[in-house]
Amino acid sequence: MTDMDSFITGLPKAELHLHIEGSLEPELMFALAGRNKIVLPYKSVEEVRAAYDFSNLQDFLDIYYAGAQVLRTEQDFFELTLAYFTRVAADGVLHAEIFFDPQTHTDRGIPFAVVIEGILAGMAAAEQKFGITSKLILCFLRHLDEEAAFETFRMAEPWFGRIAGVGLDSSEKGHPPEKFVRVFAAAGAAGLKRVAHAGEEGPAAYVWEALDLLHIDRLDHGNRALEDPELIRRLAASQMALTVCPLSNFRLCVVPDMAEHPIDRMLDLGLRATINSDDPAYFGGYIAENFRAAAAGRRLGKAQLVTLARNSFLGAFLDGETRQGYLRKLDEFASA
Ligand code: ADE
Ligand code: ZN
Repeated sequence: MTDMDSFITGLPKAELHLHIEGSLEPELMFALAGRNKIVLPYKSVEEVRAAYDFSNLQDFLDIYYAGAQVLRTEQDFFELTLAYFTRVAADGVLHAEIFFDPQTHTDRGIPFAVVIEGILAGMAAAEQKFGITSKLILCFLRHLDEEAAFETFRMAEPWFGRIAGVGLDSSEKGHPPEKFVRVFAAAGAAGLKRVAHAGEEGPAAYVWEALDLLHIDRLDHGNRALEDPELIRRLAASQMALTVCPLSNFRLCVVPDMAEHPIDRMLDLGLRATINSDDPAYFGGYIAENFRAAAAGRRLGKAQLVTLARNSFLGAFLDGETRQGYLRKLDEFASA
């Protein structure tokens, strides 16, 4: 391992953009398919990995939703979640705020309680085993309508004390944040945090909508905000955290090459950018691999990597004391 590799691995960090269904590795997909007697359209793990060749977000989503069909029982969701935390315990992750897509499961007859209790049990086990703290964010699928999002929101009500917030994901183009104004207002009124994917494939106008109509507390992706100087000023002035996902951006053709990734430009513009993995089982790497890819592609130095890690704790939905504790750990690491 090079000095930079071990620096990146050891760097205390938080992951703020991770879809738990996107951490389903092909090996676990096969194991769960076998256990649940589901026939996969692939003969081997190698064949699954070979299918992960995407030219845009929709290409990926079609395969990602198909893969999630193997998840059926609370135990399945528990194993999926604990596998993610086991993996990132080796990546220097101290805290994670993870997404789940309940509609992907409830629409095929899996009870909401099965999904969320399995994930919450995995999060609790990870805290016990690895000391990693975590929070859960419920995402609405934006290709469905707002009434469906409201149904999910109502289903989730008994668990409001155990989820940190709501998010918005799935096919961005043609599904502006404006579609979800009422359900996001209800989430805010219930005391939940609000985040949204915006500006991944969709235009800067969707980022404005996420800010002004959904009142988001954090922006997921946000790449295309860079096309709008006024929006850059707004995001920088408010120190809105951006959860940027370098390998995802490359694999979904949001950027043509890691050498052209805008991560350092975001920092230079004063944006609170962070590095995350999005769907690591599909995009070729967990969070440390995303740091490595960005660092290699853009020749980032250690000071920039520390800033990115600091931003992850500053952008996390942590209480003041916990945040300070993590920032102290980061400072100790950086000055060692
Ligand atoms: N669901 C899982 N990953 C996603 C992404 N990168 N964008 C939108 N929806 C998603
Ligand atoms: Zn995402």
